[in-house]
Amino acid sequence: MIDKRKYKIAVVGAGTMGTGIAQVAASAGHEVTLVDTNKEALEGAEENLKKILTRLSEKGKINIEDAHLIFERIDFKNDLNTNDYSIVIEAIVENLVIKKKLFSNLEAKLNNETIFATNTSSLSITAIASACQKPERVIGTHFFNPAPLLPLVEIVPGLTTNKEIIQKTKSLLDAWGKTTVIAKDTPGFIVNRVARPFYGEALRIYEEGIANVATIDWAMKELGGFKMGPFELMDLIGNDVNYEVTKTVFEQFYYDPRFKPSLAQKQLVEAKHFGRKSGKGFYDYSDNAENPMPNKDEKLGREILDRILAMLINEAADAVFMNIASVEDIDLAMTKGVNYPKGLCKWSDEIGVDKIVERLESLYKTYGEDRYRINPILRKMKKEGSKFYE
Ligand SMILES: NC(=O)c1ccc[n+]([C@@H]2O[C@H](COP(=O)([O-])OP(=O)(O)OC[C@H]3O[C@@H](n4cnc5c(N)ncnc54)[C@H](O)[C@@H]3O)[C@@H](O)[C@H]2O)c1
Repeated sequence: MIDKRKYKIAVVGAGTMGTGIAQVAASAGHEVTLVDTNKEALEGAEENLKKILTRLSEKGKINIEDAHLIFERIDFKNDLNTNDYSIVIEAIVENLVIKKKLFSNLEAKLNNETIFATNTSSLSITAIASACQKPERVIGTHFFNPAPLLPLVEIVPGLTTNKEIIQKTKSLLDAWGKTTVIAKDTPGFIVNRVARPFYGEALRIYEEGIANVATIDWAMKELGGFKMGPFELMDLIGNDVNYEVTKTVFEQFYYDPRFKPSLAQKQLVEAKHFGRKSGKGFYDYSDNAENPMPNKDEKLGREILDRILAMLINEAADAVFMNIASVEDIDLAMTKGVNYPKGLCKWSDEIGVDKIVERLESLYKTYGEDRYRINPILRKMKKEGSKFYE
């Protein structure tokens, strides 16, 4: 059992993620110190949290007393104010050199028992941990944005992380009501790796001129049951952010063509058409803008859905094949982290692996590109007549 009063939490970096994580920890009953070296960022976080908690109480999601208590549990500081935190969760800028410097400084300030967690979305946990004298206490805890709303946290042990630290971190986050999955320390962990074809294959279909963005979005939502279409989602995430994640994953996988970024998206970024935040992306968000209309041709829609889904399942299969996580955790990550209507492994079982292999073989035959190579696990399952879930 975790004694919440004794279990003090520090969150370093009071930006989007740090503020959300501090809210989650304080809502779970912990005393939290939220640290930022930038005065404006800290003041902004304080103001934001006050607003969010007030709104939650006005909407009746929490009562007003609890809103006050949660807010009072968070101490806004420009430095840590004690050496006995149980865990420090780092959510500063995504830069390996800066993160390593922070971790090395933290080690000098904090006692040996403190767990060092990082919220990095793309850096190697092992590389960050290498800055510490005790790398065994460093672990990845990858929250999703917005942290208070999205339940998933990917727990990512580095090569040097101690097993007990994994268990302690998992128990803590489970006690916060989070859905935790364990992922291997590899580029993109689970979600940012397995989800790549949702964007990449949609972009490829669009670039080939098979369908416009509205048709692809319509097919994925109406026929596939996804909450948002790939282009709507890229516009929401920001094409600059989405393009950067794809580029990072591509580079970190030594330029594997499966992860190749799209020139169409690169151009949007160059034109500063970032999406919703800039008013224009794949769609135009200005008043009275003329946007493309979907071609609701069922046959075309099915072809689009089947192609993107086969590529997503191939990627999930690769994550299983390369021991990134268990079948269950991969499905949980995609449904809880990015709201997919079904786990991809479960979906593959339902469709039948022979059909998935057939679709991928047809793509490979058509294009002759390595991007469409079939994962060995799918071939093996087809041959054996087996499933992901037996
Ligand atoms: N934004 C997302 O959707 C998202 C999702 C998952 C993970 N992440 C990861 O979370 C981390 C934070 O992302 P963000 O979007 O919240 O960033 P952000 O830019 O909103 O906030 C970062 C904050 O860290 C502060 N900071 C920088 N260096 C510091 C230092 N040495 N000590 C204390 N504070 C410092 C900055 O002043 C800033 O307020 C990154 O590693 C990012 O990759 C982001």
